[in-house]
Amino acid sequence: MSKDLKILVASSDPSYFAQLDPLFAGYATERLAPDDIPVEFDRISPDFVLMVHSDKENTVEAIQYMVSLNPQVRVAVVARSQNFELLREVTRAGAIDFFVLPEEMTLLHNRMPLILQQVEQLKKSEQETSASVFKKGRGQIYSFYSAKGGSGKTLIAANFAQTLKLESTANVLLIDLNLQYGGIETLFSIDSARSLADLQPVVEELNEGHIHNVTEREPHSQLEILLSPADGEIAEKVTDQFIASLLRVCRRNFDFVIVDLPTEMNAVTYTAMEEADRIFYVLTPDTPSIRTFKKAETLFFRLGMNTNERLRMIYNRIGNHSELQPKDMDEFVSYPVEMVVRQDIKGLQSPLNKGEPLRKTANEKKIPPFAKDIQKWVHGLIT
Ligand SMILES: Nc1ncnc2c1ncn2[C@@H]1O[C@H](COP(=O)(O)OP(=O)(O)OP(=O)(O)O)[C@@H](O)[C@H]1O
Ligand SMILES: [Mg+2]
Repeated sequence: MSKDLKILVASSDPSYFAQLDPLFAGYATERLAPDDIPVEFDRISPDFVLMVHSDKENTVEAIQYMVSLNPQVRVAVVARSQNFELLREVTRAGAIDFFVLPEEMTLLHNRMPLILQQVEQLKKSEQETSASVFKKGRGQIYSFYSAKGGSGKTLIAANFAQTLKLESTANVLLIDLNLQYGGIETLFSIDSARSLADLQPVVEELNEGHIHNVTEREPHSQLEILLSPADGEIAEKVTDQFIASLLRVCRRNFDFVIVDLPTEMNAVTYTAMEEADRIFYVLTPDTPSIRTFKKAETLFFRLGMNTNERLRMIYNRIGNHSELQPKDMDEFVSYPVEMVVRQDIKGLQSPLNKGEPLRKTANEKKIPPFAKDIQKWVHGLIT
């Protein structure tokens, strides 16, 4: 039997890796802490996952997450004690087997070759019929960040989301993570008491329905928006674990999740960047912004954030009179530049003052240069 399966062993306790490794001798095996699954799962794309349950992490959610990304993945769970509730829940989430260690180590050793054989057969038959298997696309999370205030994160994130919604068939959700002060609601003149904080009490069973109940819809594009509580006291109670769960559920239910971040680097901001498929760093053409960007880069490194392949630059407010031009900015930047947005004071003034969105219908002829630049970007992404 060929051994061309990819195996993932997930455990937050590394001592399990040595114990479980002999089960997969000869197979391509990767080891991960369950917390790293959201970031690494796509890259590894395992056929079989052995997941060690510990009380710290949410095993059920991790399984749901993996199965939602790849319905063909087979998952077995290892627990430290008999736990019928867990057994029921992981089975419902899609796990195919459950072992209690150390008691069932021998059983696990005896069963594993059989399990892998089945996984391999399944994989083969799926490959043969793959044309008819529908694979749900993985929702993309795009986070917009800059360590410098007022650089255009909110304006770009919001206009990007709205344009994407207007000019494609994608389901798009815009999330305002400026928990303390908000911002998106003023941009779109939305007056609502509902916010993403309303979802925190139901985080354990969070589903699509809950999210739709709390979102607002921008009337022109029908873009769904999860507003910020815009309240310091409530903001303090929003945890990074909640934001991680929220983003994962959103990813499963939308094609694009656009996240507008505050400049402050805290656990919530960090989480929204870690969960993101792309981080767009908005940089304006002036020395203070470059200096702040360099500091942010050092901070990302210190925090152990993986920015490779994920972080891209947006140069904003570029014009003839800018202190720096894109080629000058390139000298300070090692990340790819996703796009360049023009300085557009005239075009933005009236909509911003009136609290009107920059876009109202698809393919409008007369839109401000700022919105044109974003439109060009969106078209490049979806075609
Ligand atoms: N391309 C542009 N041309 C002209 N003005 C711009 C442009 N981009 C941003 N601005 C101006 O900068 C202001 C701040 O933008 P925005 O609120 O999007 O920044 P931010 O990075 O989200 O700020 P904060 O750090 O406060 O969240 C806008 O209200 C607008 O007046
Ligand atoms: Mg902002």
